[in-house]
Amino acid sequence: MLNFTFFNPVKLLFGKGQIAQLAVEIPRTARVLMTYGGGSIKTNGVYDQVMAALSQHTVLEFGGIEPNPRLETLLKAVDLIRREKIDFLLAVGGGSVLDGTKFIAAAVPFEGDPWDILAKQSPISAALPLGTVLTLPATGSEMNSVSVVTKEATQEKLFFSHPLVFPRFSVLDPEATFSLPACQIGNGIVDAFTHTMEQYLTYPADAPLQDRLAESILLTLIEEGPKTLADPTDYAARANVMWCATLALNGLIGAGVPQDWATHMIGHELTALHELDHARTLAVVLPGVLAVQRGGKQAKLLQYAERVWGITSGTAEERMEQAITRTRQFFEAVGVPTRLSAYGVSSDTIPVVVERLVSRGMVALGENRDLGPEGVRQALALSL
Ligand code: NZQ
Ligand code: ZN
Repeated sequence: MLNFTFFNPVKLLFGKGQIAQLAVEIPRTARVLMTYGGGSIKTNGVYDQVMAALSQHTVLEFGGIEPNPRLETLLKAVDLIRREKIDFLLAVGGGSVLDGTKFIAAAVPFEGDPWDILAKQSPISAALPLGTVLTLPATGSEMNSVSVVTKEATQEKLFFSHPLVFPRFSVLDPEATFSLPACQIGNGIVDAFTHTMEQYLTYPADAPLQDRLAESILLTLIEEGPKTLADPTDYAARANVMWCATLALNGLIGAGVPQDWATHMIGHELTALHELDHARTLAVVLPGVLAVQRGGKQAKLLQYAERVWGITSGTAEERMEQAITRTRQFFEAVGVPTRLSAYGVSSDTIPVVVERLVSRGMVALGENRDLGPEGVRQALALSL
């Protein structure tokens, strides 16, 4: 096992009715800014529950944070906060609202151009405290310190991570996810699945516990994910998928093991260029990356084939191939197409993606730093 430091201070309040706990989790004297997205919380009852819980608090609102949150929008919240002397942020929504709010938290006390926090990885020394109410299980943002922001002007999608932007608490009520459209449910399943794969499907590191934790998440998503699609009000299935998505990216399964993340880096470029939902890019990219990298990944691909998909017969090549095919089929089965053509994106985009990665210095991706421009090209070409 590799050396690791594991730190995760996020308090989780999980289950039905937990939104009411906001009343005690946020200090009574705080001046709160509630941030949210395009309005789903106004139609599914979450907004009303939050407001009822905070009836004794001073609460201002900032709505309109878009999917793949835009720097330009978030900076408007920064102005509002500085003007109104806000001292606590409450993000209510999916990963975009949570990520956007983490950026806002860091940007308010930042001296200089806040985009530098991402573009130059400028260090931050302070951030406003924030809490979250999650409405879309997918990103793990509710229990990690990562934020991904897009600068509209340059079509750049970049991330930063800092312990100061860990949420103080996150409320996870599976009922808040009942209103999700099928496409977002599928997206969430694929995102959580791929987060697990980025930390599991690398090379053996004498870490059987991490392997089995990851396999448990994959198997649970395969079992429970389709149930959430079949019956949007199946509370147990929603709760299980929600917990999977949180555990897939809260640092636990990645502790002490090599990590890949090539699929995410390539996927971010596709989102920035074509506005594809984050998870949809992953569904396109992951099968190709696994195929191109199957040399270095062979041992884990065979383990994945056997333990997750029950594939035990055939040559090593055949078993790896089948495991990749099963992965693609699973994504398709939860309603997420795995071919660029399904999104109206042609092969013309491949050299553009490669060029953008190269311009960012990303010429050696993956756990072995051996996925270069040619490998990225091949991986994308497998999913045309
Ligand atoms: O904006 P509203 O009206 O709320 O609608 C949203 C949005 O249109 C809707 N939605 C959310 N909860 C709902 C709901 N609709 C009905 N009922 C509900 N309960 O869903 C749409 C998509 O929301 P979004 O927040 O964009 O989705 P997701 O949670 O998948 O977040 C994606 C963003 O997270 C980043 C991605 O890059 C992308 O920008 N990621 C963040 C990570 C992290 N912080 O660790 C890691 C991930 O790999 C990822 O990169
Ligand atoms: Zn992701």
